[in-house]
Parts: sequence; structure tokens; C-alpha cells
Amino acid sequence: MSDISRRRFLVLSGGAFAGAAFLGCTRASAPIGPDSAVVATFEGRRRKPGAAVRDFTLTAAPFTLDLAGQLAQTWAYNGSVPGPELRVKAGEVIRARLVNNLPDPQSTVIHWHGIALRNDMDGVPGVTQAAVPPGNSFLYEYTAPDAGSFWFHPHSGLQADRGLYAPLIVEDPAEPGRYDQELTVVLDDWMSGIGPSPEDTLKNLQAGGMQMGPGGQMARSDPLGGDAGDVVYPLFLMNGRPPKDPPTFTAKPGERIRLRIVNSGAETSFRVAVGGHRLTVTHTDGFPVEPLTVDNVLVGMSERYDVLFTVSGAGAFPLVAAAEGKGGRAFGILRSGAGDAPASDAPVTELAGKVAELTDLRAAAGVTLAPRRPDRTELLNLGAAEEGYQWTINGNAVTDDAKIEEQSKPSIVRMGERIRLIFDNGSTMYHPMHLHGHTFQVVGPGGAAGPRKDSMVVRPQERIAIDVEADNPGQWMLHCHNLYHQEAGMMTLLSYRS
Ligand code: C2O
Ligand code: CU
Repeated sequence: MSDISRRRFLVLSGGAFAGAAFLGCTRASAPIGPDSAVVATFEGRRRKPGAAVRDFTLTAAPFTLDLAGQLAQTWAYNGSVPGPELRVKAGEVIRARLVNNLPDPQSTVIHWHGIALRNDMDGVPGVTQAAVPPGNSFLYEYTAPDAGSFWFHPHSGLQADRGLYAPLIVEDPAEPGRYDQELTVVLDDWMSGIGPSPEDTLKNLQAGGMQMGPGGQMARSDPLGGDAGDVVYPLFLMNGRPPKDPPTFTAKPGERIRLRIVNSGAETSFRVAVGGHRLTVTHTDGFPVEPLTVDNVLVGMSERYDVLFTVSGAGAFPLVAAAEGKGGRAFGILRSGAGDAPASDAPVTELAGKVAELTDLRAAAGVTLAPRRPDRTELLNLGAAEEGYQWTINGNAVTDDAKIEEQSKPSIVRMGERIRLIFDNGSTMYHPMHLHGHTFQVVGPGGAAGPRKDSMVVRPQERIAIDVEADNPGQWMLHCHNLYHQEAGMMTLLSYRS
């Protein structure tokens, strides 16, 4: 934290300023709700005349997933796990009808993770829309302004720990395209239909704290700062397939591949590597970074990494996503020639090599936020209740999305301001913190322009600042994307006020 922001923080948190978040505001301020005119006005500015409209239908319904012969009863979009990959170009309009065919009484919504969209289409029940009851449908329509790798999922209870998720790729019409082929890899920790239900898992956590892994070991990870998770999953999937029935990606020797990696897992970070190859990170959460070549990337829940690599020769290479600290992996095969396929447990030395750290990454020149002193600075303490399974932000746990305003202390912002949020993790576990509707910039070491992101891992005892340009009015969720932490209270709002 710079001296300026430290001082600013001390002022803002000083007891003399009750309601300090309203500092500089002399009149009453009302929340800018999803239905307010300004939200529609902003969408009007975003939408270019003649922008193409892309129509999709997404039906959420029960589905039986075949996991190498083991049948899992789950829920999915359009009868596949992941659901269908949606592809549009930046500036186009997505018009997607959600049809809820889930069993009664499951209401649902779709949240378009990472997209800077109009607030009323953000898909948060009780905050931006009413949940869609079973047998009903809802039409989402919004401009997708920025290119990048995004995804979508429900924002209702623990539904996203079933098969309800899919990638959303927004192509750049001006893409320099320095690659020959692109592949999307969606990773998931899986228990739906083959283990306890997500709801029972949460009850379990609430009753007994944490589950133990095989041999009574806690899941541990150095790069995650210690505890790697509380939930034991029987399987890890790559594009909906288990290691026993891996997806195969075909390529030619010498081809340059753009790999878009999405972690849709609820409680697992994945360490991704391609045997015999190094990876050049080009994008985080959709936005470009200065290229960084590493051996592997560690992808927290809901994060996306785009990496480039050149297929080193003819053969079959393991594409692995190790469940960080938990044992087990999601697995696929990259085939560029004849030869035996690698075993799903094949050793991959790159997994032990150099990992891309948040502090190694810099936003690409074209997407850095203009240097600017923050108008506001807020400290967000990430914590846990003394007892029981409850996760908190500034000591508050939210038990009902619709009561988030009263149950948490929202961070307040006004249109056009720059706000700095400082996450201070005083708990013993890492938290992948996600802000809706914005792509913030991580404040790098010494104030450097860190990567643009919408989800970021904050490790235990770590303090990291992000800068947010308040350019998208509305009420925006700010929460931990460990689904169990979120469900156990760890959420608040970034609330625009008039
Ligand atoms: Cu994937 Cu509230 O987010
Ligand atoms: Cu968390």
C-alpha cells in the first residue's frame, strides 16, 4: 500500500468519521438499483448501432453424466457437462433464454462471470433479479463489451457444484491471432451423483468442520499458503470427463495452441501443465498480460488463464490439471502423432517447476488502468467465525442473498470514482475473491500495474489491494468463489450510490 493510500485508509477508518464511506457526500445517497434508468442509459452507450444479436437457449435440467461407465445423476445445461460453449464477438449482444426445468423447488438464474454487463442481467437472485422458479424462463439480453475467456453458472445456493456451468468466449474482432488453434479446457471437482450432495457436504462442514483426505491428511499447498481445501472430491473432470475416459485434443507438430483454462470447481484450485512444454501466460480472466513463460499455472476457483504453447513434436502429451494439495487430477491428452497415450497418472515434471505467481504478472500496456489516486479506500477483512463453519467479510456473514444489504456492510462507490479495495486475509485459508461487473487491476509490488482480473486468490495472512474504476453502475456482488465459503456467508456488495 502506498503512503497516500495508507493515510487515506486511516482517515476513512478513523472513529471520528462515522459513516466514513459517505465522506465527501453532503446529501442523502440512494443505491443505484438494477432497474434504475442509469443502468439502461449505460447499456445504451455500450451498445453500438447495428450490433449483432446472438440468440441462445439454455435449459437447466436433470441429466445423467456417464463417467467412464459410472452414471451420475446431476443437473446440466442443454444435456451436457460442461454446457454448450457460447461464442460471440466483443460488442455483440447476447440474448439467452434460461429455461428452468430443474426439479421443484429449485429456482435458478444465470450469472455471466467476468462480463462487464448491465447490472439487471447479472443474475444474482434477490439482488439483481427475482430467481426463476421451476417451469419458468427468463430472457437475458446484454452487450458483451470486452473480449476474453469468461463462463457462466447459477448463483443460487450450491447449484454450481453440480454440472451447471459452461464457457463463454468473447472473441476479439481485432485479434492478432498469433496461434493456429484454440482449445478450451474447463476443470471441475466432481461429486454430484457419485458422492454426498453439495447440500449434505455443506451440512457436514457445518457439523464437523472439515473433512479429512485419504490417510487423515489435510489438503496442503505452499502456493496457496497452507490449507488447500476442506472438501474431498472423488473425481476431477476435464471438459466433463474423468481421467479414465480423457478428452483427446488433436494438433499438429509445431502448431501454436491457445489454451483457454477455466476453473469451474467449487472448492479446488488446479495446477495445469502440459508434459514436455512450457506455457506462456497471455491473459488472466480474459484480459491480456505481458507474456510470461512458466512451467505451470495455478488456477483458483473461477479464475481463467489463457496460455500459448507450441506443440513440440509428434506424439501424445499429457495435459494435466492437478487438484492442488488434494491429490488426484483432471486429465486430457494432446495428440500430435502416433504413439501410446500417456497414463492418467503419468509423471509430469512441469508440475513441479515454475508457477505463475500473481506478483509475476503485469497488465498488458493496452489495458492498464490510468494511474490515479483512489477516491476511496476500503479494507475488507477476510475471516471466519470463532466457532462453526461460517466465513466472514469484516466480521459479517450473509445468510440470505436478498438481505445482503443489511447483513453485510457494502462498499460504497459513486460513478466515475476510483476505489481501492484492500483484502486482508486473517483466516487460515485462501479465498478466491470475485467482483461482479468489473475487471479490477491488482496493485502489484511497489504499486506496479498488476494484472486485470475479476477473481483473485488471497492467501492466509496476505494483504492485497485492487483498484476498481467505477464505470458500471449498479449493485455488484463481491464474494469468495469457494462455493462453500460463499454459501456460509462470505459475500458483500460493491454498491453504487447516486
Ligand atoms: Cu462466478 Cu458471483 O460468481
Ligand atoms: Cu473463501
